[in-house]
Amino acid sequence: MAGTPLDDVSRLAYLQAMDIDVWVQRTPQVKPGLRQEVAAPQSSLADQWTTLQEQVASCEQCELCATRTQTVFGSGNQQADWMFIGEAPGQSEDEQGLPFVGRAGQLLTEMIRALGFAREQVYIANVLKCRPPGNRDPKADEVTACRAYLQQQIDLVQPKMILAVGRIAAQNLLQSQEPLAKLRGKIHQWGEKPVIVIYHPAYLLRSPLEKRKAWQDLQFALKAFRDK
Ligand code: URA
Repeated sequence: MAGTPLDDVSRLAYLQAMDIDVWVQRTPQVKPGLRQEVAAPQSSLADQWTTLQEQVASCEQCELCATRTQTVFGSGNQQADWMFIGEAPGQSEDEQGLPFVGRAGQLLTEMIRALGFAREQVYIANVLKCRPPGNRDPKADEVTACRAYLQQQIDLVQPKMILAVGRIAAQNLLQSQEPLAKLRGKIHQWGEKPVIVIYHPAYLLRSPLEKRKAWQDLQFALKAFRDK
């Protein structure tokens, strides 16, 4: 009989004989004459991502749409436990349409590796989806205009841990004016999600002596994630 699949009745009998609970999917009982409540069709996650990406790509809610080459939506694992949020695209990102692909991006990839992940395992986005000309700091109205996009990305990914990359991202995410030195080493919140602030890789490229503290921040984030 090897290789012959058991019919359902025999399989159930075997499982019950071995004291294994058997769960059988119930067929919904429809009472005659009663109108069934039909659930409203839910758009799939994939549809929601596509819609959001299209909205961002055609966004004209602030003046950055006039100077961008293209929008930089975000990239990575859409079901990631870890989400990295930077400030805004720079020149390379504006050219390629992807976040953190320049020199700072290479260092961020190394930082992600230091946490034990491949870049593809996490999700990476920015507070702003368009490059501010000359890489100036984001303006308040630009952050406000882009905030709903980021909120929706977070809602879709449902990360277990958010890392705010650098002072500007952290201050905008946390709506704080505190310097990075005060923001790092603490667990903040975005709604119910824990947020940890880390050094921006561009800053670490300029100040390599701070890499030790950056490593401590990553360790702190890992511990916070494991202790949850
Ligand atoms: N710096 C950021 O904050 N984001 C990028 O995508 C690139 C550089």
